[in-house]
Amino acid sequence: MKKLLYISFAIFLFGGCNNQTESNVVNEIINPVFDKHIEPIIFENCTPCHRENGGAPFVLTSYNDVKKKAKTIAKVTQLRFMPPWPADVEYSHFVGERHLTNTQINTIQNWVKNGAPSGENPNLILNQVKPFVSNFGKPDLVLNMDSIELSAGDIDRFFLTKVSAELPNNKWVRAIEIVPGQRQLMHHFNGHLINYDYGSKTNFNTSPISVEITNGVMDNSDGLDLMSDNGILPQRVHSVVNYLPGVQGTMYPTGIGTFQVNKQFSIVGNDVHYGPSPKDAVDVTKLNIFFTEIPPNRGIGELMLGTNGVSEIIPPLQIQPNTISMHRTEFKVPEDISILTVNPHMHLLGKSLKAYALKPNGDTIKIISIPKWDFRWQFFYTFKKMLKIPKGSIIRVEAVFDNTSNNPFNPFDPPQLVGQRMEYGGSSMRATDEMFQFIITYLGYQNGDENVSLEITEK
Ligand code: HEC
Repeated sequence: MKKLLYISFAIFLFGGCNNQTESNVVNEIINPVFDKHIEPIIFENCTPCHRENGGAPFVLTSYNDVKKKAKTIAKVTQLRFMPPWPADVEYSHFVGERHLTNTQINTIQNWVKNGAPSGENPNLILNQVKPFVSNFGKPDLVLNMDSIELSAGDIDRFFLTKVSAELPNNKWVRAIEIVPGQRQLMHHFNGHLINYDYGSKTNFNTSPISVEITNGVMDNSDGLDLMSDNGILPQRVHSVVNYLPGVQGTMYPTGIGTFQVNKQFSIVGNDVHYGPSPKDAVDVTKLNIFFTEIPPNRGIGELMLGTNGVSEIIPPLQIQPNTISMHRTEFKVPEDISILTVNPHMHLLGKSLKAYALKPNGDTIKIISIPKWDFRWQFFYTFKKMLKIPKGSIIRVEAVFDNTSNNPFNPFDPPQLVGQRMEYGGSSMRATDEMFQFIITYLGYQNGDENVSLEITEK
């Protein structure tokens, strides 16, 4: 039943949204076979998630796996529901973009229609797929978070977790990558760094700890034993690691985004959110830490527009029932900047979002367009090359919210007034709350930034 609903949502959301520019060109393979034509598509676009601990509910790591699901695969690719990539690839391009061409989609349809023939030598590529370890090669240090037991049941659960480490000396960290043990269940992880002055905490203990949050208070660190001996909580470095479904870790060029960890440090997972689990499960989330000898040479800035941010939402985010409403937020850039990554964020009523910059001379710089918002895929979008936005430009973000009963994700039937709640940093995921936020990670512009590639796959 659930599945049927799912597919009909997908039809509602994705039906008719194929771009028409490519569709007149019919150069798909008419008689495709798995080994030659299908396997490379699956390997490139599907197995990064559809493999052991890749986050998808089943694996596609052999001919038989794919054949068994052939009909559904034909459907979800035709609808462009898979691979998930909500950003419009005609508008702007990002690292790790996954998008099937119409030719590839038609090839898959033909293959399934013809009975999914294997070809002579299937599995040559898929046999090489390994369980997920890292996107950036071998980590220098792996820390295991506390193991968390989730039992079968229909509730969301929230935790605070802490892991600590002691090193021979202070070190520069280029990136921390999170590897959830239960990717299908983890909805959110936001990690802060706490650096201790050496010797300031005599009972410094590296065993992981976790506490469950039951009252909705996200920033209550009681029970995590974070204080130094003098009773003071050392300063935290916020958001050194983040996870949302589908998000891959981000690593920037050397010297950018690097931060220091002290000899004694802790990573605190704030508001770690697990969705309801269909079965008993234990999560041991790993943190892959990548050190570098190169100290930071450029500071990263974060600009948050919209909810809790530097720019107001016009009109305010009070979404009347039975309406589709457009809201915008704008920010004038006071100096030349280079954008690295953007992260649009809305909840269940989100319908579409578009962000662009208007230069002082009137030209438009395209940032991102998400024609069909899907709250399940909240990616961080890193540009392939840094994107320069000149001083005096206005960054404008427009978001459309659908508070009608045609929106299959509307939490209310009949629809009700939905607004934003500012408690807990406004980051609550209660169904009654909506958000409109656009987070920009940037650098002060330097000559030549537009040529700097951000496609980093190995440290
Ligand atoms: C970014 C990770 C990711 C990629 C890439 C990806 N999938 Fe998925 N896939 C998922 C997740 C997660 C689900 C479960 C979705 C849900 O339940 O909301 C899923 C679900 C599915 C389903 C079941 C849909 C249903 O209605 O039951 C199929 C079939 C599928 N994927 C096929 C594919 C194919 C084919 C590709 C490549 C062309 C692909 N996926 C690429 C993560 C991914």
